[in-house]
Amino acid sequence: MRKKQARILASLALTCAIFATACSKKLQEPAPEATKAQPPYVIGLGEIMGLTQMRHAKLWFAGKAENWPLAAYELDELREGFDDAMLYHPHHRNVPYPLTQMVPEFVSSSLDALDKAIKARNRPNFDKAFDSLTAGCNACHREANFGFNVLKRPTAPPYSNQSFAAAVPGPGRAP
Ligand code: HEC
Repeated sequence: MRKKQARILASLALTCAIFATACSKKLQEPAPEATKAQPPYVIGLGEIMGLTQMRHAKLWFAGKAENWPLAAYELDELREGFDDAMLYHPHHRNVPYPLTQMVPEFVSSSLDALDKAIKARNRPNFDKAFDSLTAGCNACHREANFGFNVLKRPTAPPYSNQSFAAAVPGPGRAP
């Protein structure tokens, strides 16, 4: 190798080494904003309730279509939402009682009645239990000073990209 070429290669290697060291040092140092303590994310009660509203509507259309597996799924999701509400928001703003007391008081018996109706694939009982759940939502809203938030039976499916028709026909139904 000619002397000049060797010198160029050596200086290139040095430049690369310096650059690599600088880069790795930069990677090791945390960015200044990442060093600030971030409070853990907690989902808001309003957000949980927004999801509850969506599931309440889906539950109705699943029951109406006698799609019992979907109805059972939506009921389960509703229960999980209420569990999260009690876990993350046991006390909320000017709500006079703890949610851990209000949720069981206002909705538990309707959720259990829905469970029974879904397992029995009984549409009239499903309708009755659904209306009693909705009444429970509204009673809790009134008690919680959110009485302006009124729920009712939905009239149109919340999403046009989901089929509520039963994917697997139940016993006794035409295929
Ligand atoms: C513990 C009593 C309680 C029960 C039971 C309850 N809610 Fe709520 N709900 C609240 C409170 C409190 C708020 C206000 C939350 C906030 O600060 O944004 C609320 C808010 C809402 C909102 C407004 C959310 C928004 O962003 O527009 C909807 C919709 C809602 N609830 C639906 C329901 C439905 C549907 C049910 C029944 C399946 C239900 N809720 C049961 C206490 C309750």
